[in-house]
Amino acid sequence: MRLETVVLGVGLVSLVLGATAQKAVPDQPKGIAAALFAKASEDDYVGAETCAGCHAEHVAEFKNSGHAAYSNDPRAPLSKRGCEGCHGPGKFHLDEEHPENVAFTKLSAKESNAACMRCHAETMSQSQWHRTSHQQANLACVSCHQIHTNTPADEKLAKAKIASVSSPLVVAKPATKKLLKADEVTLCSSCHQAESAQFRLNSHHPLPEGRVTCSDCHATHPTNKARKTVDIVKEKCASCHAEHTGPFVFEHDPVAGLTGDGCAECHRSHGSHNPKLLKSFSRGLCASCHTEKTTTHYPGRTCWSAGCHVALHGSNSDSRFLKP
Ligand code: HEC
Ligand code: HEC
Ligand code: HEC
Ligand code: HEC
Ligand code: HEC
Ligand code: HEC
Ligand code: HEC
Ligand code: HEC
Ligand code: HEC
Repeated sequence: MRLETVVLGVGLVSLVLGATAQKAVPDQPKGIAAALFAKASEDDYVGAETCAGCHAEHVAEFKNSGHAAYSNDPRAPLSKRGCEGCHGPGKFHLDEEHPENVAFTKLSAKESNAACMRCHAETMSQSQWHRTSHQQANLACVSCHQIHTNTPADEKLAKAKIASVSSPLVVAKPATKKLLKADEVTLCSSCHQAESAQFRLNSHHPLPEGRVTCSDCHATHPTNKARKTVDIVKEKCASCHAEHTGPFVFEHDPVAGLTGDGCAECHRSHGSHNPKLLKSFSRGLCASCHTEKTTTHYPGRTCWSAGCHVALHGSNSDSRFLKP
């Protein structure tokens, strides 16, 4: 151990000197994580105490990370344990001639994701990730997740992307979870400003109030059942609005999802200028499909008010939806 420390001490000096004289760690080639682990033997792992000799701050910080418990599992093989489980076998990093390691901040999204997927392919199917719009848009796991710190980066995110919005969107902020860079609303909004602004409209899902959040409707890591990043709409809506989704004896085709977008045929999902998240608050809403009916009988302001088609989501007693 003592000999090792001495050797490392020399290594430190030359590495630090190297870092000032020229870039100590060169740009990463493709497939770096896979390549490094493939050529490693047991002796190539040096352990976190060694890393602490030069990266005390990162080691201290990582102790408080939500990922530490998983990374410190003593049952895991060396290649999946501690700092080196992510950054690669220490010996290669400490090689004076040709230092190599997995440096997430320097990798392409594809490379960086592959390094996470070394383990997460087991917990999260690769094919599911590849179906998401986020993967296709070249996002990295670390676009949304942060490993070393549990401190939310929301101020930084807010400053970077949503500075133009003067008042905060959220009244009741949901907690930051799952190693995300910030609470979900702040995180998602930092890139999807237009969508989050819709929650400011008069009629909106109570997301600013903290009663629903983006992932209640969007499966960021979809399962086999889910379509891309937006789950099958009716199923999602039904999980909270069972009373409007049936099944009914007399189904209204669009509500039952027979005409296409299901609930979204009439409702906006995020927010709307019209009451009840409706696309339009007039008989025009119904007339968009029932062109013939609106010319033969003239309802009041809307087809569903004034005691007419009050059960328009579907009825168990009336085929024209006049009663529930
Ligand atoms: C002898 C000192 C020393 C030890 C021990 C050491 N490192 Fe480093 N490490 C450095 C230096 C110097 C750099 C280069 C910093 C730079 O390029 O800005 C570095 C860079 C890194 C980087 C960033 C690479 C990059 O390209 O920016 C990571 C990640 C890293 N080290 C992780 C580790 C891990 C994990 C361990 C333990 C297995 C470890 N280090 C052990 C000195 C050390
Ligand atoms: C689960 C994977 C994982 C583990 C385990 C891990 N790191 Fe990191 N590390 C990262 C990621 C990802 C980054 C990039 C910054 C971020 O997203 O937090 C990073 C950044 C760094 C950096 C800064 C260099 C850079 O690329 O920005 C150093 C140094 C570092 N880690 C050292 C360590 C040490 C030392 C340990 C062990 C105590 C460790 N890491 C454990 C994933 C990990
Ligand atoms: C050495 C193996 C390994 C690597 C590499 C790894 N993880 Fe993990 N991670 C785990 C294990 C094991 C768990 C716990 C089981 C699970 O939730 O899948 C976990 C859990 C997580 C969680 C859930 C935390 C929670 O609070 O429930 C997130 C998020 C995560 N990892 C992100 C990442 C990211 C991002 C990377 C790449 C920078 C990464 N991991 C790399 C092994 C790893
Ligand atoms: C667009 C943002 C985003 C990206 C990109 C992303 N995640 Fe996540 N991840 C999330 C959110 C949001 C959650 C929490 C979902 C929830 O609680 O329903 C999460 C949860 C997780 C969990 C915990 C799952 C569980 O069921 O507890 C793991 C593990 C994870 N992510 C790993 C990854 C890995 C690995 C990648 C890269 C391949 C990745 N994530 C890319 C947003 C993202
Ligand atoms: C780092 C930026 C970034 C973050 C953070 C992010 N996204 Fe995305 N998201 C994108 C990009 C880029 C696309 C690709 C389509 C586009 O340009 O809108 C996308 C696509 C989507 C789509 C599909 C849109 C479509 O047209 O198919 C949904 C839904 C979505 N994101 C939801 C979320 C949610 C929910 C979160 C928070 C967990 C989130 N995003 C976080 C950048 C981001
Ligand atoms: C009540 C459920 C629900 C919530 C909560 C929700 N969404 Fe959506 N979102 C949907 C549905 C359904 C669609 C697709 C149908 C549509 O266009 O309305 C959608 C579409 C999207 C799209 C794609 C837009 C496009 O033009 O294709 C993005 C991006 C998005 N949502 C982001 C977010 C973000 C970010 C949040 C959180 C701030 C969020 N959503 C919260 C249900 C929801
Ligand atoms: C996570 C649960 C959840 C999901 C999923 C969900 N909603 Fe909601 N929805 C709510 C809550 C909570 C309210 C507010 C009810 C209240 O204030 O009494 C609401 C209100 C509404 C309203 C009435 C708005 C108003 O102004 O009165 C409509 C319409 C609606 N949701 C449609 C949908 C549609 C369509 C979907 C699927 C895209 C959906 N919801 C998914 C929880 C959810
Ligand atoms: C054919 C158009 C149409 C479709 C499709 C539709 N709705 Fe509605 N929905 C309406 C109208 C119109 C209202 C307003 C009723 C009122 O004010 O009495 C409404 C109101 C609501 C409300 C608020 C009820 C209240 O009492 O405040 C919820 C929740 C709701 N719909 C959920 C859904 C869900 C979930 C779906 C998909 C399964 C769906 N809607 C499909 C037209 C539709
Ligand atoms: C997306 C298209 C669409 C929208 C919007 C829509 N409907 Fe329908 N509706 C249908 C279809 C398709 C049927 C079944 C076939 C048919 O009879 O025309 C149907 C059936 C009905 C029926 C059953 C009686 C009949 O004509 O056979 C009534 C009543 C009805 N709709 C009322 C409404 C009202 C009120 C609205 C506005 C809130 C509305 N619909 C909006 C597509 C739509």
